[in-house]
Amino acid sequence: MASIADKTVLVTGGNRGIGRALVEEALNRSAELVYVGTREPLAHADARVTPLMLDVTDAAQIQAAAAAVGSLDVLVNNAGIWLFDDLSDRAALERHLAVNLFGTYSVIQAFLPLLVRSAGAIVNNLSLNALAPLPLTPAYSISKAAAFSMTQSLRALLAGRGVRVHAVLTGPTDTDMTRGFDIPKSSPESVARAIFDAVENEEEDIFPDPASAAMADSWRSGAVKAFERQLAAFVAAEPVTS
Ligand SMILES: NC(=O)c1ccc[n+]([C@@H]2O[C@H](COP(=O)([O-])OP(=O)(O)OC[C@H]3O[C@@H](n4cnc5c(N)ncnc54)[C@H](OP(=O)(O)O)[C@@H]3O)[C@@H](O)[C@H]2O)c1
Repeated sequence: MASIADKTVLVTGGNRGIGRALVEEALNRSAELVYVGTREPLAHADARVTPLMLDVTDAAQIQAAAAAVGSLDVLVNNAGIWLFDDLSDRAALERHLAVNLFGTYSVIQAFLPLLVRSAGAIVNNLSLNALAPLPLTPAYSISKAAAFSMTQSLRALLAGRGVRVHAVLTGPTDTDMTRGFDIPKSSPESVARAIFDAVENEEEDIFPDPASAAMADSWRSGAVKAFERQLAAFVAAEPVTS
């Protein structure tokens, strides 16, 4: 699946921010069809775009969306929330897990049959905070770390079924999410280009901006990555019988 051209792509949270930039970039790369997951009615001038009502915490909407999509090559799980907390409120943690972990999980499960059929790809837009928490947003960081672990397990579990699973360790990007946070940020357009470049290059862990790219080499050659590969090999191993 080297190229996005002529492929069918679905982006959750595709109405604004990085998601919207991913939609535009898929169109720029001659995707055949782009489904845009959105929680509000959405219009797009390009006839290749089909909006889908898709709150990733709504099981009925997920099932309806999966039923409406005939085939799918690339599922981009981008929808997410990022709220300040201090871990004193369990509800804040549950809110982040509901969207960033269980929402992503539920969408993947619903679309997996289509992705197996197409030998497609799952692209999970996570965060550098999957690797190290920002203690101003610990609940968010926990949800992204959990979603990263899920991504790593799915990668091993789905490899034998022909589905590639990518983790995107995104750094600070200039969207509504980081408005008011005065730090260097990348543009959503540059991040979207880097994500699809890396998907086309079949890079399993994607570092799509200067802040994340600074960690790419040490991550890829590091002990933790080697350990992930070592443990992933157990999926293909024969079960122990005695
Ligand atoms: N911006 C950054 O610096 C940064 C860094 C690392 C990772 N990320 C990740 O990148 C992804 C996109 O973030 P962004 O910066 O583009 O943020 P954003 O501009 O705030 O957009 C968030 C998107 O997620 C959608 N969303 C939120 N809850 C949802 C739900 N329950 N169901 C469906 N869609 C939902 C929003 O839809 P509505 O418009 O309906 O609210 C919106 O489309 C997130 O997963 C985020 O964690 C961002």
